[in-house]
Amino acid sequence: MDSFVIKGGVPLRGEVTISGAKNAVLPIMAAALLTEEPCVIRRAPQLSDVDFMGEILTSLGAEVKRQGSTLTVRAARVKGLGDYDLIRKMRGSICILGPLLGRRGEAVVSLPGGCVIGARPIDLHLKGLEALGAKIRIDGGYIRAGAKKLKGADLFLGGRCGPTVLGTANVMMAAARAEGVTVIESAACEPEVVDLANFLNSMGANISGAGSPTVRISGVKRLHGAEHEVIPDRIEAATFAVAAAASHGEVTIRGARADHMHAVLDKLREAGVTVERSGPALRITRRGRLRPVDITTLPYAGFPTDMQAQMMVLMTLTPGISIITERIFESRFMHVSELARLGADIAIEGPSAIVKGGRPLSGAPVMASDLRASAALIIAGLAARGATQVNRVYHIDRGYEKIDDKLRGLGARIARVEGA
Ligand code: EPU
Repeated sequence: MDSFVIKGGVPLRGEVTISGAKNAVLPIMAAALLTEEPCVIRRAPQLSDVDFMGEILTSLGAEVKRQGSTLTVRAARVKGLGDYDLIRKMRGSICILGPLLGRRGEAVVSLPGGCVIGARPIDLHLKGLEALGAKIRIDGGYIRAGAKKLKGADLFLGGRCGPTVLGTANVMMAAARAEGVTVIESAACEPEVVDLANFLNSMGANISGAGSPTVRISGVKRLHGAEHEVIPDRIEAATFAVAAAASHGEVTIRGARADHMHAVLDKLREAGVTVERSGPALRITRRGRLRPVDITTLPYAGFPTDMQAQMMVLMTLTPGISIITERIFESRFMHVSELARLGADIAIEGPSAIVKGGRPLSGAPVMASDLRASAALIIAGLAARGATQVNRVYHIDRGYEKIDDKLRGLGARIARVEGA
C-alpha cells in the first residue's frame, strides 16, 4: 500500500487548478444507464472511485471509455444486477438503483453496508422509490425492486439528519422516466444534485427546482444521449484553501465555483484568513494569527461534513478553543486519534470535538481511515515540523485527483512511496 511522506513547514505558494467533482460525476455516470445512446461526460476527474463506477457500469453491460478527462458511457443494453462484490467497495454505487429501475422496471442491487464514517442507511432511497410504485424487498443482502410502471407521486425525503443527497439523486433518476409528475419535498440542495438535474434535462428530462428543497420532475417516455461538463469539485477547492491557510501560504485557486463554497469561505474569513475573488479565481492568504471558530456541519448550504476534518486541522493550529460539531455522520471523527499522534489536543464530547488549538504539530507516522480524514492528515503534515508519513493513501486516490502532484506544484515537499 502506498504512503505519502511529507516534510512540513513549507508555506504553499502558487496556483492550483480544480478538477471535476467526484460526487457529481458518480451519479451522472449512473444516469447514463437511462438511455441506450452514448453520453459524453467532460471534466471527469481521474479517481479510483470514478474508475470503479466505470467497472460497475461495465458489469451491467455498458461500454465505458476514457480519453483524457472525457468519459463516454454507452449503455446499449443493461443487465439489472448490481453485485455485492462491487457495490460493497463503494457506497456511492447505490445510485445505480434509481436508473436501473427507470430503465428496466426492475433492479437487484446489493445493499451497500455501512462504512467507517457511519451506518449510512438507505431507507429514504427505498421510501422514495416505493412512492413511485416500486415493490421492494430485501432478500439475502440484496434490494429487489420492481415496478410494472413507475408513476409520479408527491413524496417527502427528509430524514433524521435532513435530506439525502444520493437518495434525491436516485428518486430523480427513476422519476425522470416515470409516468406523470413527481414532487420531492425536502430534497437535497447540494450543487451536485443540480448538476445531475442539468445533465438529465440535457438528456430530455423535465426537472425544475433542483437546488431548492422542492424538486418537480415531469416524467418522459425516453431519454437520449447528451454531453455534459461536470462542475468543479467544491470540496477539493476548499481543501486546498485550508491547506494554504494551514501552511501560512498564498495560493490562487483556479476553476473553482466560489458560489458553491460560501459556508467554508465564510468560516475561513471568520478565522482570520484572507479570501479574495479575482475574476474566476480565488486567492487565499494567511497573514497574521488565526482566531478560533465554532463549526457545525449541516446539509447544503451549511458547512459541509466533507470539510469537517480538514477544518479541524486548521483549528488545532489556532490558539484558543474551537468546537466542531458533526451533525451528518455519527462516527466521522476517525482523524482525531491520528491528529493526536501529531500533538493535537482534541476531546470528543458526543457529536462535538473540542479543539484546544495553538500547540505546534510535529510529524509522525499516521493512518488514513477515509477520504476526507486522509486529506486532513496531509494538511496536518504540511503544517507540522519534521516528517509525517500518511499510510493507506488509497483512500485519498478515491477522491482527490493527483493531490501529490498538485501540492508539489505549490512547493510542498510530498513524495509518494510505493508500498507492498
Ligand atoms: N440517511 C438516512 N437514510 C437514507 C439516506 C441517508 O438516514 O436513506 C442519513 C445518513 O445516514 C446521513 C444523512 O442522511 O446521516 C445524509 O446522508 P446522505 O444520504 O446525504 O449521504 P450520501 O448521499 O450517501 C453524499 C456524498 C458524501 C457526503 C454526503 C453528505 C456521494 C457519493 N457521497 O453521500 O460524500 O458526505 O452526501 O453531503 O455523493 C465524501 O465525498 O467523502 C463523502 C462521504
